[in-house]
Amino acid sequence: MKTLLLALPGNEPMARRLAGELGAGLIEAQFHRFPDGESYVRFTTAVTDATVWLVCTLDRPDPKFIPLMIAAETARDLGAARVGLIAPYLAYMRQDTRFRPGEAVSSAYFAKVLSCVVDALVTVDPHLHRRSALSEIYAVPSAIVHAAPVIAEWIRDNVQRPVLIGPDSESEQWVADVAARAGAPYIVLAKTRRGDRDVEVTVPDIEQVKSRTPVLVDDIVSTARTMCETLGHLRKQGLAGAVCIGVHAVFADDAYASLLAAGASRVATADTIPHKSNAIHLTKQIAAAAAALNWLGRSCCDDPAEPN
Ligand code: R5P
Repeated sequence: MKTLLLALPGNEPMARRLAGELGAGLIEAQFHRFPDGESYVRFTTAVTDATVWLVCTLDRPDPKFIPLMIAAETARDLGAARVGLIAPYLAYMRQDTRFRPGEAVSSAYFAKVLSCVVDALVTVDPHLHRRSALSEIYAVPSAIVHAAPVIAEWIRDNVQRPVLIGPDSESEQWVADVAARAGAPYIVLAKTRRGDRDVEVTVPDIEQVKSRTPVLVDDIVSTARTMCETLGHLRKQGLAGAVCIGVHAVFADDAYASLLAAGASRVATADTIPHKSNAIHLTKQIAAAAAALNWLGRSCCDDPAEPN
């Protein structure tokens, strides 16, 4: 069965790289927004009997979702045998519980709908915190690429005597793994988030690592408040010139500029979301995960989890 990739708008470079790795073809398509705001999609490449991978990273997901849904349905309608999604960044993973009465548990709802749109999912380090596997909320087969080995390699090549720093307990899973692979010590801080842009971080005694280069590692950098707060505390304790590494360069509004202004000596991110800080490349790993995916799984009609 031939494999074809379709880049949703903005994902063309990643789709081209993946197609090269997979030896797959690219689907030519037109995407257009009508004056009334609705989406238009047209395929000009035949997809009959093909395995189709839609390539669409899902930062700022809301306007991307409708074209993605229409593209998936078009592929099926035109005869594709199966339609998967490569979303290097998977949105709506952080609202994974009802923090306050009446709140939506968006991660479960989004997963339920996306599982009806595509037949399989490949992503990079989704924010699994209170859930341990995508299969708890996604009804379709999925594969996760872990950035840790490539981040560790980047640190070994670029940072002298690193000490890895995780901003909160949630980050320990990545930081511990990256540190072990990079052969470096690590510490994990305590974070309290009081609002979207109101974050407090407390730093333990770091005397024993003062001679090392601090390397902050987190999965998502969104407002960058978490990293900026951490940088401020490190500076107060005499640790300056921190390197900041994020897997997913969400960078809302002026977050990137704030991070540089807060004293990051360098910011390096993975290429799951296109950004000038992308320095850690995951195309090979994502392509390998897509090629190895076992498509047999539950159907979208199954309900893997009731939202909490
Ligand atoms: C939190 O649960 C994540 O692991 C990140 O620490 C968080 O998403 C960072 O967000 P921000 O950049 O807005 O502080």
